[in-house]
Amino acid sequence: MSMNYSKKVMEHFKNPKNMGEMKDADGVGKVGNPVCGDVMHIYIKVGKKDGKEIIEDIKFQTFGCVSAIAVTSMTTLLAKGKTLEESLKIKRDDVASALDGLPPIKMHCSNLASEALEAAINDYMKKTKKKGN
Ligand code: FES
Repeated sequence: MSMNYSKKVMEHFKNPKNMGEMKDADGVGKVGNPVCGDVMHIYIKVGKKDGKEIIEDIKFQTFGCVSAIAVTSMTTLLAKGKTLEESLKIKRDDVASALDGLPPIKMHCSNLASEALEAAINDYMKKTKKKGN
């Protein structure tokens, strides 16, 4: 079965950005899609810029379809260097349009990346609260 993926989707699928594990991550988000069984992890390293917390570094691992990989790769590019607040606003439509669109039946895959990013940020916030700062 062939799917009409945009050139950008194929580029990110073949050459994903920021792929890999991060051992000393400040926050980890893991999200799975119960329908297809695909799973993704997003790891973030949080730094400070102008007194604001920013995503200094970000990595991902995805066990999933072409869209899931392309979408997570693009999400890491969009989030890197942004403040946590800005990153939480990255939604699936932003990612899909940055990839010049996804086939309609693949739109559900694009939810995973922004959800995993949100989960990673929440994980970070939970951890820092526990430390008392
Ligand atoms: Fe599972 Fe795309 S088919 S994330």
